[in-house]
Order: sequence, then C-alpha cells, then structure tokens
Amino acid sequence: MRRPDDWHVHLRDGAMLAAVVNHTARQFARAIVMPNLAPPVTTVAAARAYRARIEAAVDTALGFTPLMICYLTDHSDPDEIERGFAEGVFTACKLYPAHATTNSAHGVSDIGAISAVLARMERIGMPLLLHGEVTDPTIDIFDREAVFIERVYARIQADFPGLRSVFEHITTVEAVAFVENSGPLVAATITPHHLRINRNAMFDGGIRPHAYCLPVAKRERHRLALRRAAVSGSPKFFLGTDSAPHIIAAKESACGCAGIFNAPFAIESYAATFEEEGAIDRLEGFAAEHGPRFYGLPLNEERIVLERDPIDVPTTIDVGAAGAVVPFHAGERLQWRYAGIASSD
Ligand code: NCD
Ligand code: ZN
Repeated sequence: MRRPDDWHVHLRDGAMLAAVVNHTARQFARAIVMPNLAPPVTTVAAARAYRARIEAAVDTALGFTPLMICYLTDHSDPDEIERGFAEGVFTACKLYPAHATTNSAHGVSDIGAISAVLARMERIGMPLLLHGEVTDPTIDIFDREAVFIERVYARIQADFPGLRSVFEHITTVEAVAFVENSGPLVAATITPHHLRINRNAMFDGGIRPHAYCLPVAKRERHRLALRRAAVSGSPKFFLGTDSAPHIIAAKESACGCAGIFNAPFAIESYAATFEEEGAIDRLEGFAAEHGPRFYGLPLNEERIVLERDPIDVPTTIDVGAAGAVVPFHAGERLQWRYAGIASSD
C-alpha cells in the first residue's frame, strides 16, 4: 500500500525523543508532531528548534518529515501564527482546553480569548486541531467529549464557518455524528487503541494503567461507531495514532499519566482492525490518502509492504537511560507484519 502518515503523534523531547522517533519514522512518511512539551511550542522559533532536534534524532535513511504545530494559549499572537504558517514552519494550531491532559496547563481557558487567532486562521486557511474534551470537573469524564461538542465545537463552527478543523482522537458516537454532519472542512483522526479497546480494558481483573489515555476509552457502542467510521471510506476520517509514551514508573503510579504508546506496531494494529471489519482494501485510504487530501498535501509516492505473517509484540520497549515503556498490544500476537518500504525497482 501507499506509505501512510500519522496525523497526530507525541514524539516528546530529549532522551525519550531519541528512543521513540524511529518507531514512528520507520512506518510513516510524515507526522503531525504534538507541541505539548514543557514548556509548550508556542512560537515559530521554538517550533524550528524542536523540528531541528527531531531531525537530529531521526534515522535520515527512513525519509521522515515532521510537521510542526503551534500550541495555542490565551496569549497567542495572530501575527506570529500567520508568519509561522507562511514560512512553512507551522502546519496547524492545536487547541488544548487548559488542564485537559498531559502538559496542557498553558492551554486555552476560554475560546473567547483566541477569537482573533481563529479569525486569522480561517482567513489564511490554517487548520485548527482540537483536543475535544471540556475540563469542567462537574462533567463526568466519560461525557467530556460529547459536552465539548455542545459547548465549544458548535460555537467555533458557528462563529468561524470557514475554519478547517480536525477533531482529534475521537472516542464517541456523538463525535462521529458531529463530523459526519459537518461540512467538508471538518474531519477527525482515530487512534489504533480506540478501535480496539473499550473502557472495560482499564479494569480487566484489576486497574490497568497501560489502557488509560485521554480521551478515555468509552463504552462498547462507541468503539463500534469508531470502527464503522474508520472503515467507511469517508474522507473525513483518517489515521492519527496519538502515540503517547510515558515510562513505566509514570504509568504504574498512584496518579498515572494518560497515554498509550502504540507507535512500534501502529500500522499492524490498524490492519488487524480493518481486516476484522472485512475492509482491508480501505486501509490505504484511511492511512495514506484522506489525511493528505484534507491538509492539501501531496500523497506519498513510496509504498510499504504489509505481510500476512504473525508478529509477537514485546512486553516492554527499552527507551535507554530513562527506562522502558509498555507498548500497546504488549505480549499479544498480531497477524500482519510491517515489512518496510517497498524497493522502487
Ligand atoms: C497525551 C500525552 O501524554 O501527551 N496523552 C494521551 O493520553 N493522549 C496527551 C493527549 O493527547 O491528550
Ligand atoms: Zn495526543
């Protein structure tokens, strides 16, 4: 199939970046790199510097292009954002509601604070990526995505009807319906894990921190809606792993971090889902065509090989001095194996 891209990934920084980046780069030609570092990537200079650190860490033979994102805050400057977009540094901006997830303390407290930014993005055709959960502590955690649609996304859509946006890592029936019922400027990414686990996975015989991510996995009927959307062939749904590595000690803790590290076997995981749905022929559109078309970027010309050959996922993956990370599908056997980029002759 055509070489895929990952439209949502956390590559981290420093030693963790060096340890994880090639897991993404060996499969994906491009990736939208999330800006939730500490401190977050809020300026053109910071994005250029982070891009250089990624390029220094990646194996250049893999032919990987990181696409950089501007993290929005209450103080984001429309001129800085437009300059970054014009200079080809920023591909999009990311809206994290303040305190929604890992390293989001600097996120946006109220969308009224960024209305000038959103108006500028709408005018210049720059996409907005949304972490779609409200942070109101009185809202049940399993309802935060659905309530975000009513309270925030609908308002953004009404006020900025020409704004291109991606509802990131959707997890609910309501999000699928919202995207399907919106015009062609609204799309969504779907992770490998939300296609495979429901909320029971977090409590399977005991508390399971490696199944915990944000947005949190929901009931089975939501998972089934995500699977239908992913394999539907609709150009509004595309691949975004949300691979989010945390070392074991940070996950297996009294207050464990949110995030599932799925990069090492990402395309194998999606392939398993598409095959189970009888839709392996639609994997290429989801993984390699819908995303670039939405972003107005060329399709990758390279091809990759997936073989029908079982692969055993290790129980941990070493990340050097920092320790180890438990990957998604740890200890499982997957039926499709990624065999690398096809030779061009
Ligand atoms: C992400 C992380 O760890 O940076 N965690 C996660 O559970 N997905 C943040 C995010 O995207 O919410
Ligand atoms: Zn994420």
